[in-house]
Amino acid sequence: MPASTAAVLAALAVLVPSTLAQASTSYVDYSTEPQPNLDAQTLATIDLGFPDCTQGPLSKSLVCDSSASPHDRAAALVSMFTFEELVNSTGNTIPAIPRLGLPPYQVWSEALHGLDRANFSDSGDYSWATSFPSPILSMAALNRTLINQIGGIISTQGRAFNNVGRYGLDVYAPNINAFRHPVWGRGQETPGEDAYCLCATYAYDYITGIQGGVDPEHLKLVATAKHYAGYDIENWDGHSRLGNDLNITQQDLAEYFTPQFLTAVRDARVHSIMSSYNSVNGVPSSASSFFLQTLLRDSWSFVDDGYVSSDCDAVYNVFNPHGYAANISSAAADTMRAGTDIDCGTSYQNHLNESFFHGEISRSEIERGVIRLYSNLASLGYFDGKDSPYRNLAWSDVLATDAWNISYEAAVEGIVLLKNDGSLPLSKNIRSVALIGPWANATEQMQGNYYGAAPYLTSPLDAIKASSLDVTYAVGTGISSQTTDGFAAALSAAKNSDAIIFAGGIDNTIEAEGMDRQNITWPGNQLQLITELSGLGKPLIVLQMGGGQVDSSSLKTNKNVNALIWGGYPGQSGGQALFDIITGKRAPAGRLTTTQYPAKYALQFPATDMGMRPSGSNPGQTYMWYSGTPVYEFGHGLFYTTFKTSLGGSRGTGNETSFDIVDLLSRSHDGYKIVEQLPFLNFTVSVTNTGRVLSDYSAMLFANTTAGPQPYPNKWLVGFDRLGALKPHTSQIMTIPITLDNVARTDAEGNRIIYPGMYELALNNERSAVLSFTLTGNATTLSKWPLDEQQIPPA
Ligand SMILES: *[C@@H]1O[C@H](CO)[C@@H](O)[C@H](O)[C@H]1NC(C)=O
Ligand SMILES: *[C@@H]1O[C@H](CO)[C@@H](O)[C@H](O)[C@H]1NC(C)=O
Ligand SMILES: *[C@@H]1O[C@H](CO)[C@@H](O)[C@H](O)[C@H]1NC(C)=O
Ligand SMILES: *[C@@H]1O[C@H](CO)[C@@H](O)[C@H](O)[C@H]1NC(C)=O
Ligand SMILES: *[C@@H]1O[C@H](CO)[C@@H](O)[C@H](O)[C@H]1NC(C)=O
Ligand SMILES: *[C@@H]1O[C@H](CO)[C@@H](O)[C@H](O)[C@H]1NC(C)=O
Ligand SMILES: *[C@@H]1O[C@H](CO)[C@@H](O)[C@H](O)[C@H]1NC(C)=O
Ligand SMILES: *[C@@H]1O[C@H](CO)[C@@H](O)[C@H](O)[C@H]1NC(C)=O
Ligand SMILES: *[C@@H]1O[C@H](CO)[C@@H](O)[C@H](O)[C@H]1NC(C)=O
Ligand SMILES: *[C@@H]1O[C@H](CO)[C@@H](O)[C@H](O)[C@H]1NC(C)=O
Ligand SMILES: *[C@@H]1O[C@H](CO)[C@@H](O)[C@H](O)[C@H]1NC(C)=O
Ligand SMILES: *[C@@H]1O[C@H](CO)[C@@H](O)[C@H](O)[C@H]1NC(C)=O
Repeated sequence: MPASTAAVLAALAVLVPSTLAQASTSYVDYSTEPQPNLDAQTLATIDLGFPDCTQGPLSKSLVCDSSASPHDRAAALVSMFTFEELVNSTGNTIPAIPRLGLPPYQVWSEALHGLDRANFSDSGDYSWATSFPSPILSMAALNRTLINQIGGIISTQGRAFNNVGRYGLDVYAPNINAFRHPVWGRGQETPGEDAYCLCATYAYDYITGIQGGVDPEHLKLVATAKHYAGYDIENWDGHSRLGNDLNITQQDLAEYFTPQFLTAVRDARVHSIMSSYNSVNGVPSSASSFFLQTLLRDSWSFVDDGYVSSDCDAVYNVFNPHGYAANISSAAADTMRAGTDIDCGTSYQNHLNESFFHGEISRSEIERGVIRLYSNLASLGYFDGKDSPYRNLAWSDVLATDAWNISYEAAVEGIVLLKNDGSLPLSKNIRSVALIGPWANATEQMQGNYYGAAPYLTSPLDAIKASSLDVTYAVGTGISSQTTDGFAAALSAAKNSDAIIFAGGIDNTIEAEGMDRQNITWPGNQLQLITELSGLGKPLIVLQMGGGQVDSSSLKTNKNVNALIWGGYPGQSGGQALFDIITGKRAPAGRLTTTQYPAKYALQFPATDMGMRPSGSNPGQTYMWYSGTPVYEFGHGLFYTTFKTSLGGSRGTGNETSFDIVDLLSRSHDGYKIVEQLPFLNFTVSVTNTGRVLSDYSAMLFANTTAGPQPYPNKWLVGFDRLGALKPHTSQIMTIPITLDNVARTDAEGNRIIYPGMYELALNNERSAVLSFTLTGNATTLSKWPLDEQQIPPA
């Protein structure tokens, strides 16, 4: 850290505890404490309304003129604010300005996998919204349309709630940080460990679902892509997310920690970004002009008037614990000048007046962020009264979209069959099952985190009870419990049943916001109970639940564990989805979007080591670089049937095709932003169901090469897709287009380079179809990564 920062910290230490934690009631060391102390104003959910554009003072202002541009409308509004009103409008909870007929606004609504922080009524209309599976499960379906549809339904329901004042018009979703390290407590919120393809594609489909398209004329809701950037640790080994200063090379920043944000900004046209709590290379993300100006606006062309909201209290954290600013008012000025427009928190609201009086910030710099926010509200129809196209959405639309049962579909499509010796689907001879374990009667547990009221929560127990099977339920043990008190009842239930289903794993008691795991073993004595159950000689099905993976190698090798299923956090219909997979009513076709590592991985190197490539004790991170042997690979997933894949389709023989880099870069590319997004090759396979069970098919396509400098990734994901309902002995064609961007690599400075040489495209880990091609010519830079120059100096 810079010497001056050390001096600030030393000065702070002397003041402890009297003045340090000005936003808190008592001194808290946020370098170890991962939970911010949010005040009541920040946390408030408020009764929302619409501005008075019919008769109040605003009605005569440009802000109520729907023919004016959103920016001009917002600027007209903000110019009417007194200085105090302006400063009041820089936080997430924005008080009303009654003299103008402007209602209060709440920037902070959540939409991770359904509405959260909505004002649900106690019963009847608006008492619930659809609760989808957590993103880590929905993405495992490898169905892009599904992700877009989930975003669209959430947006419809959100608008319906907004129309009655119960939800905002922008949401702090999606979470697109890649699930880099398996101990991360919030990996469950993400689409998985692959940044370039999975997280970026998820970002595109979810954001365009939420916002109502790419650059729609009328925004449906504003999405906020979070947490920008380098955020994927909560409190590992006492390193708080609020104070982490992570060392990330420009290569890893460009290749792994930001490509999903690039896609969100440049391609999906997201209207809001959340700056993260942590520092990267000594600079808090919320005060980083490199992140917020150089990359976001200068390089990626963030939408005009797109705004940046800080994570909640991250502005305060620039002062404590980062020590990047000497006090809260300087932290407020630094973050605002760097490009954080809105503070989720009250540091701006309570301290920008001081910053202003000390000459650290000007009125126009404060106005910039507030205008951006209100410009978006104008685009959302906030000032358009009943003329706004989404103003007619109502409770009936919530009912209608929920009835599509897409939450169930997402769960059933995402569930991954890890192991099966033929015991699944359950034989028709099985009449009774023992249902055992801490997930057997899961209800709220199935919602993971960031959830609201669901219409219903069908637990595994509910689903089996409603079937023709006899079921005996025994919890057996808890997630982390060590007592064997419940074992006898569980074993007895198992002995008296034809088959055993054990539902366990992890949940939000051990992976959560503010809480990473210390290890990736099965917690408590669950494995001991499973081992005892496996000695009974009955079919034993294990459901491994939760967002992060646990090391199931002992279950993989135990022949008496007949089948293993990963079910994530499956949402409101989770029990039904699991049961329908188990009985074969639906066939599994999900694939893991994270690596299941052996337990030693989590103990081998610090989770705060952000280096992706193998180095020292770090064996390399994610399937791209991991040099060890996983328990279950990224992309693993079994079916109830067999599939044969053969290359073919429009490009005929295809193999050993050669392409000249100069030719490819000089193609006309109408309809594409950049030529490297224009496909030059289709990977086309014919997929035949050679087994006896109707099933969907899903696939991941990986590239590998030794073109360009060492070290080479093992492989990397370039595409994925899902085919629906293949009947036995029928075939369908799967086409995955390949672009130059897909096969570019990132050099040490972060530049994207296309190297001449041979490339292979291989379907799934089994490499069931392989296509090779050669690129000829000179190595060519597709895009240059800008220099990391911070314009806002530390204290
Ligand atoms: C929630 O909605 C109820 C109406 O059902 C309203 O009375 C209440 O003020 C709202 N609460 C908040 C915090 O907005
Ligand atoms: C600013 O917000 C505070 C807190 O909501 C409120 O008490 C105060 O009246 C507001 N000031 C102005 C000028 O509106
Ligand atoms: C970052 O690098 C510095 C200097 O090499 C080192 O002191 C620090 O411990 C590193 N931080 C992390 C989180 O690894
Ligand atoms: C905050 O710190 C800055 C830089 O040291 C200083 O100029 C300013 O006066 C301080 N503000 C307050 C309110 O103490
Ligand atoms: C700044 O505003 C806050 C919140 O309204 C208030 O408590 C404080 O006294 C003000 N400070 C100055 C210097 O005006
Ligand atoms: C299952 O969970 C629900 C909801 O928590 C609870 O009401 C019910 O009693 C539980 N059932 C059993 C058999 O424990
Ligand atoms: C694994 O980590 C959990 C917390 O995540 C802890 O409770 C447990 O004791 C640890 N187990 C081992 C074997 O270290
Ligand atoms: C890929 O296939 C699609 C049809 O599925 C076709 O429109 C497109 O031109 C093909 N692209 C290439 C590069 O062959
Ligand atoms: C791609 O990976 C396969 C499997 O590891 C390997 O046999 C092949 O040589 C690699 N191809 C290239 C072009 O590097
Ligand atoms: C993908 O999701 C969409 C939307 O829910 C659905 O219509 C389609 O059938 C799904 N595709 C497959 C192959 O399951
Ligand atoms: C294409 O080339 C690769 C590598 O040379 C080879 O493994 C694969 O079998 C070939 N595919 C076809 C359809 O010939
Ligand atoms: C590669 O670059 C060299 C030097 O810039 C140039 O002479 C040569 O023509 C280029 N080759 C191709 C195939 O473009």
